[in-house]
Amino acid sequence: MKADVLLGLQWGDEGKGKVVDVLTPQYDVIARFQGGPNAGHTLEFNGIKHVLHTIPSGIFRPDAINIIGNGVVIDPGIFKKEVDSLKARGVDVHKNLIISERAHLILPTHRLIDAASEASKGKNKIGSTLKGIGPTYMDKTGRNGLRIGDIDSPDFKEKYLALVNKHAQLLKFHQYEYNLQELEPTWFEGIELLKTFQRTNTEYLLNQYLAQGKTVLAEGAQGSLLDIEFGSYPFVTSSNTLCSGACIGLGLPPSKIGNVYGIVKAYSTRVGSGPFPTELLNETGELLRKAGNEFGSTTGRPRRCGWLDLPSLRYTIMLSGVTEIIMTKADVLNVIDTIKICTHYKHKGKTIDYVPYDVADNTVEPVYVEMKSWKKDLTKLSNIEDIPLELNNYIKFIEKELKIPITFVSVGPDRTQILNRTSVLQAG
Ligand code: GDP
Ligand code: IMO
Ligand code: MG
Repeated sequence: MKADVLLGLQWGDEGKGKVVDVLTPQYDVIARFQGGPNAGHTLEFNGIKHVLHTIPSGIFRPDAINIIGNGVVIDPGIFKKEVDSLKARGVDVHKNLIISERAHLILPTHRLIDAASEASKGKNKIGSTLKGIGPTYMDKTGRNGLRIGDIDSPDFKEKYLALVNKHAQLLKFHQYEYNLQELEPTWFEGIELLKTFQRTNTEYLLNQYLAQGKTVLAEGAQGSLLDIEFGSYPFVTSSNTLCSGACIGLGLPPSKIGNVYGIVKAYSTRVGSGPFPTELLNETGELLRKAGNEFGSTTGRPRRCGWLDLPSLRYTIMLSGVTEIIMTKADVLNVIDTIKICTHYKHKGKTIDYVPYDVADNTVEPVYVEMKSWKKDLTKLSNIEDIPLELNNYIKFIEKELKIPITFVSVGPDRTQILNRTSVLQAG
């Protein structure tokens, strides 16, 4: 078997959690491969709304095995909170969650360094979620990090203190004031809880699962445009959010990757700083924010809203070899009269259809086509045949431009609010 990969193709919050939840019945295993609690993946079903940060979105399906892969960074305190809130919903997380021994730990001091670093950047700040993600990956690549496998070591406390002492010097340099004693008890409680979970070399396990014919879905976090290599650097996250990140973050060879689902919101949003060519800094942007309830699942910050951006989607589709697109939040666009779609950019006097190197310097201006919206409630639709003509035109236009089929259209946050387009695609 090959593992399928599910990724956000924009700046995160495309609705990955919802779609993973919808697809989980088709899979034996759901595996997170990068990022950490900067992610907020929302699932809604039976009137319940739940946001997951570190734990894969298959956790509510009792038969699915959930894996936190080696590429993920874990904050024990946040992990404990997640486990507790799942327990309160009657979910026995111990039964079907397995954690990689190689996953790195976010220390309380990583979070402090994140805050100090952002404060020092002033108006150039990244707009980080301040969960310590950047500093933890810095220690990983700097070969200083602590890993899940270390927590059983008799000298774990000494290793922890050695790293904290290094961090203290950095925090002193930043003249950052803090009280570590306040943060440590929760963190160490989390460490004790982590010890009660199945921890193993998940790279062997996943490859064995595939050899046994089990189906695996790799769940991406953040979005492709936040990728450390190809995103709008430096306004990015610190991990590889693309399909190749699933190979590294789970220990899967590239030849073992099957379908790549690209999740695309029907418009664009971004939280934090950085370029956003199609951003709407006007009433229409406000309208989308309100209708789409565009406030961060992790930080509660208002999300910046704008039109769909095809040049950036062409880029992220290319980078991950996306095989099918799942469109989310189509229902939200019904508040708009005329929808715009950015098909090209104007860049230094030329019309281009790619993302240039200097995009972070706000050098591109979008070129739009306009389409009529449907102005109809989609949230109660259950059959793709019943969608309004204008939505069908919107979907077909995007498919033609991106040359990738749109296989599902999500029309609301609930697990049941999704339309399967397979029959339409088969009919041609
Ligand atoms: P993720 O990080 O990609 O998992 O996305 P988030 O959970 O951060 O943000 C997506 C938000 O949109 C959540 O509040 C979801 O409940 C909601 N959502 C997902 N799909 C749809 C949809 O098709 N329509 C509407 N209206 N909301 C959706
Ligand atoms: P999910 O998985 C949206 C953004 C932050 C900031 C930048 C760097 O829910 O889609 P970091 O905390 O990683 O140092 O922040 O990346 N960011 C996200 N935006 N969704 C996310 O995750 C994000 N995770 C990080 O807002 O701009
Ligand atoms: Mg999110």
